[in-house]
Amino acid sequence: MIFGYFYNPGSKRRSTDRSERVSYKNYQVLRVRPSTQEARDELQNLIGEPGLEFWSLPMKNRTTDILVSPDLAEYMKEYLADKDIGFTVLSNNLEMDIKKQNPKTSKFTGRLEEKSARAHPLTWARYHRAKDIDAYLEYLAALEPKLVSLITIGKSSEGRPLKVVKISTNKKRSEKPGIWIDAGMHGREWIAPAVALFMLKQLVENYSTNRAVVDSVDWYIMPLANPDGYEYTHNTDRFWRKSRSKKNRPHEMGRIFWDEDERCGGVDLNRNFDFHWGEAGASDNACGPTYAGPRPFSEPETKAIADFILEQEGLKAYLTLHSYSQMWLLPWGYTRQIAKDHDDLMYVGRRAIEALQKVHGTIYKIGSSPSLLYPTSGSSDDWAKGRAGIKYSYTVELRDRGTYGFLLPGSQIVPTGRETFAAVKVIAKHIAKGT
Ligand code: ARG
Ligand code: ZN
Repeated sequence: MIFGYFYNPGSKRRSTDRSERVSYKNYQVLRVRPSTQEARDELQNLIGEPGLEFWSLPMKNRTTDILVSPDLAEYMKEYLADKDIGFTVLSNNLEMDIKKQNPKTSKFTGRLEEKSARAHPLTWARYHRAKDIDAYLEYLAALEPKLVSLITIGKSSEGRPLKVVKISTNKKRSEKPGIWIDAGMHGREWIAPAVALFMLKQLVENYSTNRAVVDSVDWYIMPLANPDGYEYTHNTDRFWRKSRSKKNRPHEMGRIFWDEDERCGGVDLNRNFDFHWGEAGASDNACGPTYAGPRPFSEPETKAIADFILEQEGLKAYLTLHSYSQMWLLPWGYTRQIAKDHDDLMYVGRRAIEALQKVHGTIYKIGSSPSLLYPTSGSSDDWAKGRAGIKYSYTVELRDRGTYGFLLPGSQIVPTGRETFAAVKVIAKHIAKGT
């Protein structure tokens, strides 16, 4: 996922310790489930309150997780009880959960992990920084130069390279169907890049086991679509979602947001694509986490992705990896209307999540975003289908369903990777048949 709305110049969230890291000490996550339309509307009215961040839009009979600042937690619980809105506490001190998620020490020995003697730094047991991810991509390219090409498709706002790995057995002829997978468009969704990297490992290092799908399809994988946002979640604010473009936008609402509140920088990349941009489910508030940007493709990240995709011929599948909620989403996101090829998208998606479930029993829901979650516009999946004309376009919301949420432990990287790869292979095999 996940939506989220945030506007809290007055909140204590920005209080940082000496390292300038945002502290989530005593922040809570409440899961609410409005069972009437009135209750849903009550919740809807709270969106934008200082000190609250909705991680999804409230919907009747569905759960919504809300990040609540310490000074509001008790008040919020009383309010919910008062309105008869059921809730559970998913976390009562997020800072502690953050500290536990990605320790550098081994769980088993308690000792500092030793630098592996291998040629790359990835462990598959914890989440890694952008420089380790880049090193792994270089490693793959050096390992299988005939199979792997590394393509830099642009630069992020902060100047980081935007890298795509192409895996193809015949680099010259490009008449094979292609599949694109990006991950990490939202900084805080750490499992997504990890899963993309895991799939790269399967396709390249385990080529012999997976040659059926490698030989028949050209793969384009972008494990870190928002490197700036990702790094920012590692060194400053664990729950940052947007890009890190730093613009004063004095024309907007007559204020220079950046100077007043750091949250007023950055754009939600998954609202910034040029297809029904700025309609439902996107925000024009530069301080909100779903800010659509000053104009479509204002961000170098979305622009680079779109330009690159439009240059490729034969792309038949577009996948974008997000977290969390275990959903296989299909277009449209901006409207409740049914998309072209809806039945084929449903059929292939169903087979994909069946294959996924067979691996570890993980259950996914399938459907369009407005039917399962909420509508959004300017999202990449809609753009891929509506503008780039890619038939099989999906947004995948990976594990889990909120137990850990964005703080999914590193021990789940491999199982999540395995099951997701099983699903993705179903799609690859399907497009290989040419339908
Ligand atoms: N959690 C994703 C987001 O908020 C969902 C996007 C699904 N796609 C869509 N077009 N609605 O960005
Ligand atoms: Zn997301």
